[in-house]
Amino acid sequence: MDVRPVKIAGVGAYVPPQVMTNADLEKMVDTSDEWIVERTGIRERRIAGIGVATSDLAIEAAKSCLLHAGVAGSELDLIIVASASPDHLFPATACIVQASLGANNAAAFDMEIGCSGFIYALVTGAQYISCGTYEKVLVIGSETLSRFTNWNDRNTCCLFGDGAGAVLLTPGEEGEGIISFILGSNGSSSSLLTLPMGGSRIPACKESLDQGLHYIHMEGKAVFKFAVKVLIKAVTEVLKECGREIDDIGLLIPHQANIRIIESACERFRMPMERVMVNIGQYGNTSSASIPIALFEAVRDGRVKKGQLVVLVAFGAGLSWGSVALVW
Ligand code: UT7
Repeated sequence: MDVRPVKIAGVGAYVPPQVMTNADLEKMVDTSDEWIVERTGIRERRIAGIGVATSDLAIEAAKSCLLHAGVAGSELDLIIVASASPDHLFPATACIVQASLGANNAAAFDMEIGCSGFIYALVTGAQYISCGTYEKVLVIGSETLSRFTNWNDRNTCCLFGDGAGAVLLTPGEEGEGIISFILGSNGSSSSLLTLPMGGSRIPACKESLDQGLHYIHMEGKAVFKFAVKVLIKAVTEVLKECGREIDDIGLLIPHQANIRIIESACERFRMPMERVMVNIGQYGNTSSASIPIALFEAVRDGRVKKGQLVVLVAFGAGLSWGSVALVW
Protein backbone atom coordinates (compact mmCIF):
# COMPACT_ATOMS: atom_id res chain seq x y z
CA MET A 1 0.00 0.00 0.00
CA ASP A 2 1.29 3.46 -0.89
CA VAL A 3 1.80 5.89 1.94
CA ARG A 4 0.68 9.40 1.03
CA PRO A 5 2.10 12.63 2.50
CA VAL A 6 -0.35 14.40 4.82
CA LYS A 7 -0.44 18.18 5.20
CA ILE A 8 -2.31 20.77 7.23
CA ALA A 9 -4.44 22.55 4.62
CA GLY A 10 -6.26 24.93 6.97
CA VAL A 11 -6.21 26.23 10.53
CA GLY A 12 -8.82 27.89 12.73
CA ALA A 13 -9.43 28.87 16.32
CA TYR A 14 -12.03 30.34 18.59
CA VAL A 15 -11.84 31.63 22.15
CA PRO A 16 -14.84 32.89 24.09
CA PRO A 17 -14.93 36.68 24.57
CA GLN A 18 -15.07 36.78 28.38
CA VAL A 19 -11.62 37.52 29.85
CA MET A 20 -10.70 36.59 33.43
CA THR A 21 -7.58 38.42 34.57
CA ASN A 22 -5.27 37.62 37.46
CA ALA A 23 -6.73 40.68 39.19
CA ASP A 24 -10.16 39.02 38.96
CA LEU A 25 -8.69 35.90 40.60
CA GLU A 26 -7.15 37.97 43.39
CA LYS A 27 -10.71 38.79 44.43
CA MET A 28 -11.69 35.10 44.53
CA VAL A 29 -8.76 33.27 46.21
CA ASP A 30 -5.59 34.04 48.17
CA THR A 31 -3.31 34.68 45.18
CA SER A 32 -1.57 37.53 43.41
CA ASP A 33 -0.91 38.62 39.86
CA GLU A 34 2.80 38.57 40.72
CA TRP A 35 2.75 34.92 41.86
CA ILE A 36 0.74 33.72 38.87
CA VAL A 37 2.86 35.56 36.29
CA GLU A 38 6.16 34.57 37.88
CA ARG A 39 5.27 30.89 38.47
CA THR A 40 3.23 30.24 35.29
CA GLY A 41 3.48 33.12 32.77
CA ILE A 42 -0.32 33.41 32.74
CA ARG A 43 -1.86 36.90 32.80
CA GLU A 44 -5.43 36.14 31.77
CA ARG A 45 -7.61 33.37 30.42
CA ARG A 46 -10.94 33.09 28.56
CA ILE A 47 -14.04 31.68 30.22
CA ALA A 48 -17.00 30.34 28.23
CA GLY A 49 -20.31 32.06 29.01
CA ILE A 50 -23.14 30.36 30.87
CA GLY A 51 -24.68 27.59 28.77
CA VAL A 52 -21.75 27.43 26.34
CA ALA A 53 -20.27 23.93 25.96
CA THR A 54 -17.15 22.43 24.40
CA SER A 55 -18.95 21.63 21.13
CA ASP A 56 -19.96 25.30 20.75
CA LEU A 57 -16.31 26.39 20.82
CA ALA A 58 -15.32 23.45 18.60
CA ILE A 59 -17.93 24.42 15.98
CA GLU A 60 -16.66 28.02 15.81
CA ALA A 61 -13.03 26.84 15.48
CA ALA A 62 -14.09 24.32 12.82
CA LYS A 63 -15.97 26.96 10.81
CA SER A 64 -12.95 29.27 10.88
CA CYS A 65 -10.70 26.39 9.76
CA LEU A 66 -13.00 25.34 6.90
CA LEU A 67 -13.24 28.96 5.74
CA HIS A 68 -9.44 29.22 5.74
CA ALA A 69 -9.16 26.00 3.74
CA GLY A 70 -12.05 26.82 1.41
CA VAL A 71 -13.72 23.50 2.15
CA ALA A 72 -17.43 22.82 2.87
CA GLY A 73 -18.57 20.68 5.81
CA SER A 74 -20.18 18.25 3.35
CA GLU A 75 -16.71 17.45 1.91
CA LEU A 76 -15.35 16.12 5.22
CA ASP A 77 -14.70 12.40 5.60
CA LEU A 78 -13.91 12.38 9.30
CA ILE A 79 -14.09 14.69 12.32
CA ILE A 80 -12.03 13.96 15.44
CA VAL A 81 -12.51 16.06 18.56
CA ALA A 82 -9.82 15.90 21.24
CA SER A 83 -11.17 17.05 24.59
CA ALA A 84 -10.80 16.42 28.29
CA SER A 85 -14.03 18.34 28.87
CA PRO A 86 -16.54 16.89 26.36
CA ASP A 87 -20.17 17.99 26.32
CA HIS A 88 -21.24 14.60 27.72
CA LEU A 89 -19.77 11.15 28.44
CA PHE A 90 -21.74 10.27 25.34
CA PRO A 91 -22.66 11.06 22.60
CA ALA A 92 -19.27 12.06 21.25
CA THR A 93 -18.79 15.82 21.01
CA ALA A 94 -17.53 15.18 17.45
CA CYS A 95 -21.05 13.98 16.47
CA ILE A 96 -22.57 17.23 17.75
CA VAL A 97 -19.98 19.17 15.71
CA GLN A 98 -20.65 16.99 12.67
CA ALA A 99 -24.38 17.81 12.70
CA SER A 100 -23.77 21.53 13.10
CA LEU A 101 -21.28 21.65 10.19
CA GLY A 102 -23.64 19.74 7.89
CA ALA A 103 -20.85 17.21 7.50
CA ASN A 104 -23.25 14.53 6.38
CA ASN A 105 -20.59 12.33 4.82
CA ALA A 106 -18.28 12.34 7.82
CA ALA A 107 -17.56 9.80 10.52
CA ALA A 108 -17.00 11.42 13.90
CA PHE A 109 -15.38 10.40 17.16
CA ASP A 110 -13.71 11.84 20.25
CA MET A 111 -10.29 11.26 21.75
CA GLU A 112 -9.80 11.90 25.44
CA ILE A 113 -6.12 11.99 26.28
CA GLY A 114 -5.89 15.18 28.34
CA CYS A 115 -3.48 17.82 27.12
CA SER A 116 -1.84 15.41 24.64
CA GLY A 117 -5.22 14.88 22.97
CA PHE A 118 -4.69 17.12 19.96
CA ILE A 119 -1.38 15.47 19.03
CA TYR A 120 -2.93 11.99 19.34
CA ALA A 121 -5.92 13.11 17.24
CA LEU A 122 -3.67 14.71 14.61
CA VAL A 123 -1.60 11.55 14.27
CA THR A 124 -4.73 9.39 14.16
CA GLY A 125 -6.40 11.55 11.52
CA ALA A 126 -3.22 11.54 9.44
CA GLN A 127 -3.21 7.73 9.32
CA TYR A 128 -6.55 7.67 7.50
CA ILE A 129 -5.17 9.97 4.82
CA SER A 130 -1.71 8.45 4.49
CA CYS A 131 -3.19 5.02 3.81
CA GLY A 132 -5.65 6.43 1.25
CA THR A 133 -8.91 5.82 3.13
CA TYR A 134 -9.94 9.47 3.51
CA GLU A 135 -9.18 12.79 1.75
CA LYS A 136 -10.32 15.41 4.27
CA VAL A 137 -10.07 15.01 8.02
CA LEU A 138 -10.93 17.77 10.48
CA VAL A 139 -9.04 17.57 13.79
CA ILE A 140 -10.24 19.79 16.64
CA GLY A 141 -8.98 20.40 20.16
CA SER A 142 -11.67 22.02 22.30
CA GLU A 143 -12.03 22.60 26.03
CA THR A 144 -14.22 24.24 28.65
CA LEU A 145 -12.03 23.32 31.62
CA SER A 146 -13.53 26.21 33.57
CA ARG A 147 -16.48 23.88 34.19
CA PHE A 148 -14.24 21.47 36.10
CA THR A 149 -12.13 24.03 37.95
CA ASN A 150 -12.45 24.47 41.69
CA TRP A 151 -12.54 28.26 41.96
CA ASN A 152 -11.63 27.98 45.65
CA ASP A 153 -8.40 26.05 44.97
CA ARG A 154 -5.56 28.46 44.28
CA ASN A 155 -3.30 25.58 43.23
CA THR A 156 -5.33 24.97 40.09
CA CYS A 157 -7.83 27.77 39.45
CA CYS A 158 -5.31 30.20 38.01
CA LEU A 159 -4.05 27.71 35.42
CA PHE A 160 -6.82 26.73 33.04
CA GLY A 161 -8.79 28.48 30.31
CA ASP A 162 -11.39 27.73 27.63
CA GLY A 163 -10.90 27.70 23.86
CA ALA A 164 -10.72 25.65 20.69
CA GLY A 165 -8.50 25.19 17.66
CA ALA A 166 -8.83 23.13 14.51
CA VAL A 167 -6.81 21.92 11.53
CA LEU A 168 -7.86 20.36 8.23
CA LEU A 169 -5.73 17.44 7.05
CA THR A 170 -5.51 16.57 3.36
CA PRO A 171 -3.05 14.68 1.13
CA GLY A 172 0.08 16.76 0.53
CA GLU A 173 2.85 16.91 -2.05
CA GLU A 174 6.01 14.85 -1.65
CA GLY A 175 8.27 16.49 0.98
CA GLU A 176 5.57 18.54 2.73
CA GLY A 177 3.41 17.86 5.75
CA ILE A 178 3.99 15.42 8.60
CA ILE A 179 7.43 13.80 8.42
CA SER A 180 7.57 12.09 11.80
CA PHE A 181 5.69 11.61 15.04
CA ILE A 182 6.06 9.92 18.38
CA LEU A 183 3.40 9.07 20.97
CA GLY A 184 3.88 7.76 24.48
CA SER A 185 2.15 7.01 27.76
CA ASN A 186 2.86 6.03 31.35
CA GLY A 187 -0.36 5.01 33.05
CA SER A 188 1.41 4.10 36.28
CA SER A 189 1.40 7.82 37.14
CA SER A 190 -2.21 8.39 36.12
CA SER A 191 -3.30 9.61 39.57
CA LEU A 192 -1.10 12.75 39.29
CA LEU A 193 -3.58 14.50 37.02
CA THR A 194 -7.19 13.42 37.06
CA LEU A 195 -10.85 14.37 37.12
CA PRO A 196 -12.02 11.62 39.45
CA MET A 197 -15.84 11.78 39.33
CA GLY A 198 -18.32 11.12 36.57
CA GLY A 199 -16.94 7.91 35.08
CA SER A 200 -17.58 4.30 36.04
CA ARG A 201 -14.95 4.24 38.83
CA ILE A 202 -16.59 7.05 40.79
CA PRO A 203 -20.05 7.66 39.35
CA ALA A 204 -21.66 11.01 40.16
CA CYS A 205 -23.15 10.99 43.66
CA LYS A 206 -23.64 13.49 46.45
CA GLU A 207 -20.83 12.07 48.59
CA SER A 208 -18.28 12.47 45.79
CA LEU A 209 -19.60 15.94 45.02
CA ASP A 210 -19.16 16.92 48.66
CA GLN A 211 -15.54 15.74 48.42
CA GLY A 212 -14.98 17.88 45.33
CA LEU A 213 -14.20 14.90 43.12
CA HIS A 214 -15.85 16.63 40.17
CA TYR A 215 -12.92 19.06 40.00
CA ILE A 216 -9.53 18.73 38.29
CA HIS A 217 -6.98 17.27 40.68
CA MET A 218 -3.31 17.87 39.87
CA GLU A 219 -0.11 17.23 41.79
CA GLY A 220 1.56 20.22 40.20
CA LYS A 221 5.18 19.71 41.23
CA ALA A 222 5.34 16.09 40.07
CA VAL A 223 3.59 16.91 36.79
CA PHE A 224 5.97 19.83 36.28
CA LYS A 225 9.04 17.57 36.59
CA PHE A 226 7.50 15.03 34.22
CA ALA A 227 6.57 17.77 31.74
CA VAL A 228 10.08 19.24 31.45
CA LYS A 229 11.66 15.80 31.01
CA VAL A 230 9.13 14.52 28.50
CA LEU A 231 9.08 17.71 26.43
CA ILE A 232 12.83 17.35 25.90
CA LYS A 233 12.51 13.61 25.22
CA ALA A 234 9.59 13.97 22.78
CA VAL A 235 11.25 16.71 20.72
CA THR A 236 14.58 14.87 20.65
CA GLU A 237 12.92 11.63 19.53
CA VAL A 238 10.68 13.16 16.88
CA LEU A 239 13.70 14.93 15.34
CA LYS A 240 15.71 11.71 15.40
CA GLU A 241 12.85 9.93 13.59
CA CYS A 242 13.08 12.36 10.66
CA GLY A 243 16.84 12.91 10.74
CA ARG A 244 16.70 16.59 11.75
CA GLU A 245 18.41 18.67 14.44
CA ILE A 246 17.22 21.25 16.96
CA ASP A 247 18.74 24.00 14.79
CA ASP A 248 16.55 22.89 11.87
CA ILE A 249 13.37 23.83 13.77
CA GLY A 250 11.77 26.97 12.33
CA LEU A 251 9.05 27.10 14.97
CA LEU A 252 8.47 24.98 18.07
CA ILE A 253 4.86 24.94 19.24
CA PRO A 254 4.67 23.38 22.70
CA HIS A 255 1.60 22.71 24.81
CA GLN A 256 1.04 25.87 26.86
CA ALA A 257 0.98 24.63 30.47
CA ASN A 258 3.60 26.78 32.16
CA ILE A 259 6.15 29.22 30.69
CA ARG A 260 8.81 27.76 33.04
CA ILE A 261 8.35 24.30 31.49
CA ILE A 262 8.83 25.74 28.00
CA GLU A 263 11.82 27.89 29.02
CA SER A 264 13.56 25.01 30.86
CA ALA A 265 13.32 22.77 27.80
CA CYS A 266 14.46 25.51 25.42
CA GLU A 267 17.39 26.36 27.66
CA ARG A 268 18.45 22.71 27.48
CA PHE A 269 18.11 22.80 23.68
CA ARG A 270 19.95 26.16 23.58
CA MET A 271 17.04 27.29 21.45
CA PRO A 272 16.23 31.02 21.34
CA MET A 273 12.66 31.82 22.44
CA GLU A 274 12.12 33.72 19.14
CA ARG A 275 11.70 30.28 17.56
CA VAL A 276 9.12 29.18 20.11
CA MET A 277 5.41 29.97 20.00
CA VAL A 278 4.15 31.20 23.38
CA ASN A 279 0.69 32.60 24.05
CA ILE A 280 0.08 31.23 27.54
CA GLY A 281 -0.06 34.78 28.91
CA GLN A 282 -3.36 35.39 27.12
CA TYR A 283 -5.14 32.05 27.38
CA GLY A 284 -3.63 29.98 30.22
CA ASN A 285 -3.63 26.22 29.81
CA THR A 286 -6.38 25.26 27.35
CA SER A 287 -5.35 21.59 27.38
CA SER A 288 -5.97 19.91 24.02
CA ALA A 289 -6.84 23.29 22.45
CA SER A 290 -3.54 24.97 23.26
CA ILE A 291 -1.48 23.70 20.30
CA PRO A 292 -4.08 24.31 17.55
CA ILE A 293 -4.81 27.80 18.95
CA ALA A 294 -1.06 28.55 19.00
CA LEU A 295 -0.64 27.13 15.48
CA PHE A 296 -3.55 29.25 14.22
CA GLU A 297 -1.99 32.40 15.70
CA ALA A 298 1.45 31.52 14.33
CA VAL A 299 -0.01 31.15 10.82
CA ARG A 300 -2.12 34.31 11.20
CA ASP A 301 0.93 36.31 12.33
CA GLY A 302 3.17 35.01 9.54
CA ARG A 303 5.45 33.13 11.94
CA VAL A 304 5.14 29.92 9.92
CA LYS A 305 6.69 29.99 6.46
CA LYS A 306 6.39 27.54 3.60
CA GLY A 307 9.11 24.90 3.73
CA GLN A 308 9.84 25.54 7.41
CA LEU A 309 10.18 22.72 9.93
CA VAL A 310 7.48 23.03 12.61
CA VAL A 311 7.51 20.81 15.70
CA LEU A 312 4.41 20.37 17.86
CA VAL A 313 4.81 18.79 21.30
CA ALA A 314 2.32 18.01 24.07
CA PHE A 315 2.22 16.29 27.47
CA GLY A 316 -0.38 15.79 30.16
CA ALA A 317 -2.86 13.49 31.85
CA GLY A 318 -2.34 9.79 31.40
CA LEU A 319 0.44 10.52 31.81
CA SER A 320 0.83 10.91 28.08
CA TRP A 321 2.91 12.77 25.52
CA GLY A 322 3.29 13.19 21.80
CA SER A 323 5.18 15.15 19.19
CA VAL A 324 4.79 15.80 15.48
CA ALA A 325 7.39 17.19 13.06
CA LEU A 326 6.05 18.68 9.85
CA VAL A 327 7.27 20.67 6.90
CA TRP A 328 4.91 23.61 6.38
O1 UT7 B 1 -1.34 20.66 31.09
C1 UT7 B 1 -1.08 19.45 31.72
C2 UT7 B 1 0.21 19.45 32.39
N1 UT7 B 1 0.22 20.40 33.48
C3 UT7 B 1 1.35 20.96 33.82
O2 UT7 B 1 2.35 20.75 33.18
C4 UT7 B 1 1.41 21.82 35.07
C5 UT7 B 1 2.66 21.49 35.84
N2 UT7 B 1 2.78 22.19 37.12
C6 UT7 B 1 2.96 23.51 37.24
O3 UT7 B 1 2.88 24.24 36.27
C7 UT7 B 1 3.32 24.07 38.59
O4 UT7 B 1 3.67 23.02 39.47
C8 UT7 B 1 2.19 24.92 39.24
C9 UT7 B 1 2.02 26.22 38.49
C10 UT7 B 1 0.90 24.15 39.25
C11 UT7 B 1 2.57 25.27 40.68
O5 UT7 B 1 3.81 25.95 40.71
P1 UT7 B 1 4.97 25.51 41.71
O6 UT7 B 1 6.08 26.42 41.51
O7 UT7 B 1 5.22 24.04 41.50
O8 UT7 B 1 4.32 25.80 43.11
P2 UT7 B 1 4.01 24.79 44.30
O9 UT7 B 1 2.82 23.95 43.99
O10 UT7 B 1 5.26 24.12 44.75
O11 UT7 B 1 3.62 25.83 45.42
C12 UT7 B 1 4.58 26.75 45.98
C13 UT7 B 1 3.87 27.65 46.96
C14 UT7 B 1 3.00 26.89 47.96
O12 UT7 B 1 3.06 27.56 49.20
P3 UT7 B 1 3.97 26.97 50.39
O13 UT7 B 1 3.46 25.60 50.65
O14 UT7 B 1 5.37 26.99 49.85
O15 UT7 B 1 3.72 27.94 51.48
C15 UT7 B 1 1.62 27.02 47.38
O16 UT7 B 1 0.62 26.94 48.38
O17 UT7 B 1 2.98 28.51 46.24
C16 UT7 B 1 1.68 28.41 46.80
N3 UT7 B 1 0.70 28.60 45.73
C17 UT7 B 1 0.21 29.81 45.42
N4 UT7 B 1 0.42 31.03 45.94
C18 UT7 B 1 -0.22 32.06 45.39
C19 UT7 B 1 0.18 27.68 44.91
N5 UT7 B 1 -0.68 28.26 44.06
C20 UT7 B 1 -0.67 29.59 44.36
C21 UT7 B 1 -1.34 30.69 43.83
N6 UT7 B 1 -1.08 31.90 44.38
N7 UT7 B 1 -2.21 30.60 42.81
